Amino acid sequence: MRAALVFLVACNSGSASPSTQGSAAAPPKASAKPIVDANPAALDAPQLFATYCAQCHGTDAKGYKSDHAPSLVNPTFLESASAAYLTASIEQGRPGTAMAAYGNAVGGPLDTAAVTKLVVWLQGQGKIGGELVNAPAGDAKRGQPLYVASCQKCHGDSATRGEYLLLANPVFLKLANDAFIYHAIVSGRPGTPMEAFDHKLGVQQIADIVAYIRSLAHEQTITPLPASTGKEPLFVNPTGKPPVWKTVKEDRFVPADDVKKALDAKAKMVIIDARPESEWRTVHITGAVSIPHFNLKRLDEIPKDATVIAYCACPHHLSGIVVDELVKRGYKHAYVLDEGILEWQRRGYAIVAAQGVTVPPKEPELPAGAMR
Ligand code: HEC
Ligand code: HEC
Repeated sequence: MRAALVFLVACNSGSASPSTQGSAAAPPKASAKPIVDANPAALDAPQLFATYCAQCHGTDAKGYKSDHAPSLVNPTFLESASAAYLTASIEQGRPGTAMAAYGNAVGGPLDTAAVTKLVVWLQGQGKIGGELVNAPAGDAKRGQPLYVASCQKCHGDSATRGEYLLLANPVFLKLANDAFIYHAIVSGRPGTPMEAFDHKLGVQQIADIVAYIRSLAHEQTITPLPASTGKEPLFVNPTGKPPVWKTVKEDRFVPADDVKKALDAKAKMVIIDARPESEWRTVHITGAVSIPHFNLKRLDEIPKDATVIAYCACPHHLSGIVVDELVKRGYKHAYVLDEGILEWQRRGYAIVAAQGVTVPPKEPELPAGAMR
């Protein structure tokens, strides 16, 4: 009985998806421009999205503007993601990935009203589904080899992530119930590499995979560092000499190894964490100041001849906004930390981390010819 219902859901979503996508209520406005020194209360949903989200999820919210960021408007996603799931995903982020926590309870820029605006707007891009059907009980042991054979190359595990959504992320597994995961596997995400597995795998096999994914969860409680005062010293090694870089790619990107060497050599520089402050409060490079890409007031304090390194997690898009702004203001020594903070953290370089923070899973090897 349950199985029959499940397939009904799958068939419905499969046949409805192209038209749902075509007749989406209010298409995202690609024209909305990012805003510097943003006041979220004054922004409507498309402006909020352009300011805080489009750098990774794309102006059309279809994802993959930066590494790993999924579509937020795929029909089978919208019909299965509850408002509570979307709200908590935005507020809490996905620790250890580029997805920051945007809720102001943990130091993010958005209050409940702003997050609600975004959620309502995203839900307006598709059809909101009804009640999801529960997955039958599964067995993680039986699911493990199936997951390894059919899913792992794209979704990874807790040690090494894949190119797409990290299913082993503790916040994902806390927010996503079995029915949501089951629905995604049965129906896929039309128009993306996520196929509908209902033709390849049986109901019980899918349920076993869900149980295995569930077993990838490990509890993680992060106690954020104190909020930034905005008065932390700008410079690391204020009495040192400016760094001399061995490698600068495209006049802009400095490899993490070179930045680490400069720090070891006590070079004088400003290190900017360009992510929301919530992320700085989770983990930051030792000596880095929090200057989020949407609130750049503190840039005024930086002397024009300073060497500045900005970083984010995605790994270039948010730091790139800060560096573009510095270049526009006439700074001659403004750079992006090429690999970003997640890789910095994986290499074991100097960080200040909140209690409970763990090393992010490794990045997958890129297939030949792929871009990151
Ligand atoms: C710096 C890049 C980046 C920015 C900016 C960003 N995201 Fe994300 N987001 C991601 C990534 C990457 C993931 C997936 C996490 C993973 O597994 O790597 C994600 C996941 C999500 C998810 C969960 C999707 C799912 O399928 O479960 C939601 C919802 C989301 N983001 C909404 C937003 C919203 C709304 C904003 C703006 C307030 C935003 N994101 C800003 C990178 C970003
Ligand atoms: C070829 C790569 C690929 C394979 C193989 C694959 N997936 Fe996916 N999967 C994706 C992509 C891409 C998305 C997100 C699509 C989007 O952006 O809307 C996704 C989304 C999902 C989601 C939804 C997560 C969320 O938060 O929205 C789940 C659950 C999922 N996949 C599970 C699986 C399972 C289980 C398997 C194996 C049976 C599998 N996937 C195989 C690429 C893949």
